[in-house]
Amino acid sequence: MSLIHVEDVDGSIHDLEPVEGWRVMEILRGHGIGMEGTCGGAVACASCHVILDPEWAAKVPPPREEELYKLDELPLVQDTSRLSCQIIWSGELDGLRLKLVEE
Ligand code: FES
Repeated sequence: MSLIHVEDVDGSIHDLEPVEGWRVMEILRGHGIGMEGTCGGAVACASCHVILDPEWAAKVPPPREEELYKLDELPLVQDTSRLSCQIIWSGELDGLRLKLVEE
């Protein structure tokens, strides 16, 4: 069984079972741990902002230009920030670690 390890804004860790082919935003939202994903993945809201564990940042497919532009608009962006709606789950991501961000 694959897992995503998620630290929520309170510092609690959640081990979530992902679904192949789903956006990570959808997986987080489906588990009800405080992910909004308001625009549904259209790169319009940035409410799906997460911070990847540095060890995972290079293993996740890189962001496209529109994601980078949207991340640039955020006040709390970090080097490993991503929009989780732009990461599609596949088996290679098993064990992914990320943190939710309080905006
Ligand atoms: S869900 Fe809106 S940018 Fe990701």
